[in-house]
Amino acid sequence: MTQVHLGHVFHLAGRPGVADSPSALVSLPDGALVIDDDGRIVFCGDRGRLPARFGSAETVDHRPGFLLPGFVDTHIHFPQTFAGDSYGGGQLLEWLDQCIFPAESRLADPEFAHQAAVEFCERRIAAGTTAAMVFGSAFPHAQDALFTETRRRGLRMVSGRGIQTVGPDSAAALITSEEDALRLTAEEIDRWHAADTGDVATALLHVAIVPRFSLSVTAETLKSLGELYDSVRDRGVYVHSHLNENNRPGTGEVDSVLQTYQVDSYLDTYDGKFLPGSQVGGTSLLGRRTILAHCVHCQDAELQRMAETGTSISHCPVSQLFLGSGTMPWRRTVASGVNISAGTDFAGGDEWLIPRVLGDAFKVHINEADEAGVSMHPAEMLFVGTLAGARALDMEDRFGNFDGGKEADFVVVDPSRTPALANSILRGVRSSDADMARDQTLFALLMGIRESSIAQVYVQGRRVDE
Ligand code: GUN
Ligand code: ZN
Repeated sequence: MTQVHLGHVFHLAGRPGVADSPSALVSLPDGALVIDDDGRIVFCGDRGRLPARFGSAETVDHRPGFLLPGFVDTHIHFPQTFAGDSYGGGQLLEWLDQCIFPAESRLADPEFAHQAAVEFCERRIAAGTTAAMVFGSAFPHAQDALFTETRRRGLRMVSGRGIQTVGPDSAAALITSEEDALRLTAEEIDRWHAADTGDVATALLHVAIVPRFSLSVTAETLKSLGELYDSVRDRGVYVHSHLNENNRPGTGEVDSVLQTYQVDSYLDTYDGKFLPGSQVGGTSLLGRRTILAHCVHCQDAELQRMAETGTSISHCPVSQLFLGSGTMPWRRTVASGVNISAGTDFAGGDEWLIPRVLGDAFKVHINEADEAGVSMHPAEMLFVGTLAGARALDMEDRFGNFDGGKEADFVVVDPSRTPALANSILRGVRSSDADMARDQTLFALLMGIRESSIAQVYVQGRRVDE
C-alpha cells in the first residue's frame, strides 16, 4: 500500500559532489515522502503540494520528527562486534596483534559467530545504518550467519570474508593457504552474491573480495585475487581493504608495506603493481566497486589514481582518533576529486553511529593546521554519510537520497527521545537568514543524534527495526 510519511525532510538532491553539496541540500520543514507498493519514492516535497492522488494513502505522521536518507557505513568489521573499546596499549599493528586477532579468532565457534551476527545487525539497525560495506570474518560459517541474519532483518549489505595468508602467531586461526583463500572467496561469491533476488541490480546482498591489508597477504595472493576479480568484475562483485592508515615512522603500517613489497606507494599493491619497484605483477583491484578505508597518509598520486579509477575512500575519523592514526587531510583529499564516504570502522572506532563519525569529521578537520583547517558545511556532512556512501557502493541510482524512483531507505529521527537534541533543535539560536537557519538546524541534528533518537528505520520502504 502507498504510504505518506510526514516530517522535516533533509536530503541531497541529484548527483552533487561533496563541494557542491550545499547547493543540493533540500530542507522541507513540512515535508512529505511518498512510497509506493514497490518501496520506491514517488514523491518528495512540501506537504501542501502533495498530489491529490495520494490523498487517500495511508499517512504516517512523524512530525515534529525528521526524515533523513538511511545512513551508509562503508567500513565496519563484523568479527569485531564484541571488541569495542579494546585496550591494547598501542596503535594499529599492536592493537591488531594483542586485541583484534584474538577477538576475531573467537568466531571459530559457530554459536559465538551466530551471536555476533545477531548483535551486529541489531546494532546496525539501532544506528540507522541501512546499507554497509562489511569487513567479514575469516570463517565461512560466520559469513553464512552474517548473510543469513542480514537477509532476515532486511538490511543492505556488501561483505566478504577477510583474507589473510600471512601474519603473526595471534592471527594463526585466521590465516589460510593461498589456495584456500582463493577457493573460499570464490565459494562465498557463488553462494551469497545477489543470493536474495538472483539479480545484482535488485539484490540487497552482495559479496566483496577482502584482502585484510597488504601486510596480511603476499604478492602471490594479490596476483591470484586480481585474476579472480577479473573473472567476476562484470558480475558486480566488490573489493574492500585498508590503505595508508598508520604511519608511525619505521614500524608503522605504511612503512612496513613499502619495505615488504619494495613499492613506491601503498596503493600500487592493490593496483597490480605489487612487485619491487612497483613493477606490474598482475591486474588491478581498483574500480567503481572498490572502497579503501582510511587513506590518511596518501601521496597525491595515490589520490589521483583512486579518483581516476572511481575507487572510493571510507573516511573513519572516530577510528583514527581511537587508534592514533592521524587526520585525513580534508581539503587536499576533496581537491583530488576522489569520492569520500563515511565509515565507523567499528571496533577500530568506538561508535556504531554514522552521525558520530560525521561529528568527529567536523571536529578533526576544523583542527587541521593553518590553511588546511576547515569548518565542514552540514550539507557536506550529510552528503558524506548518505549519498557519497551509496556512490561508494556504486548504487547511487538505487538509494542515498529522496529523488523520485529510488528505493526508499530512510530513518525517522525523533528528537524528543533525546532531550539534549530536542532542546538544541527547539531552543538553539537561529539566524534571521533562512539558509543559515536551515544549516544550523541540520548541524544541530547531525551533531546531536544518538541511537536513542532513531525512532524508525526503513529499507526499500519496509520497516526493519521491529
Ligand atoms: N588494518 C588491517 N586490519 C585492520 C582492522 O581490523 N582495523 C583497522 N582499523 N585497520 C586494519
Ligand atoms: Zn578497518
